Amino acid sequence: MTTTLPGPLPGPPPQHADGFAVLVEGVRAAVAAGAGWADTAALVAGELRAHLPGPDVLTAEQRLGSPDDYCAHTLHVEPDGSFSIVALVWRPGQITRIHDHVTWCALGVVQGVEHEELFDADLNLIGRNENDVGAVSGFAPPGDIHRVRGTGGTTAISIHVYGTDITRLGSSARRYYD
Ligand SMILES: [Fe+2]
Repeated sequence: MTTTLPGPLPGPPPQHADGFAVLVEGVRAAVAAGAGWADTAALVAGELRAHLPGPDVLTAEQRLGSPDDYCAHTLHVEPDGSFSIVALVWRPGQITRIHDHVTWCALGVVQGVEHEELFDADLNLIGRNENDVGAVSGFAPPGDIHRVRGTGGTTAISIHVYGTDITRLGSSARRYYD
């Protein structure tokens, strides 16, 4: 004898839709905790570490990047403007200007390699990070002056969570230094 269950068949829903929704829920809860910027960045980094999407969070065309410059694709804007999630795509050699940020940020690399250079307020190089797939970190101003480039032989993609609606501001950069 067989039993027909009402509603959808049991089984995993589409990986991207489900995984990304879980990430958004996790970030929402982390932000709602109301911690300071540095602690919020660390909490959100924990959510990214636990629920980091794959590169298929972007379409195949978006994953190609652009020959002109690195590019950003908005994945989520929280309705109250408290955070937004953006995928950045770097072809090898494409690079940001030296900049700092308007708010906290947590990020994770989902394809390729991103190379980050850190600077002090006098623009002395004070550190470098080579971030491979799965690398997740978080930071908050001040002391957040950096420059990022795609390195290695493949297009680099990373997921960034910012503590504001950066589509409204147009950029996460507070100031450029070069
Ligand atoms: Fe940045």
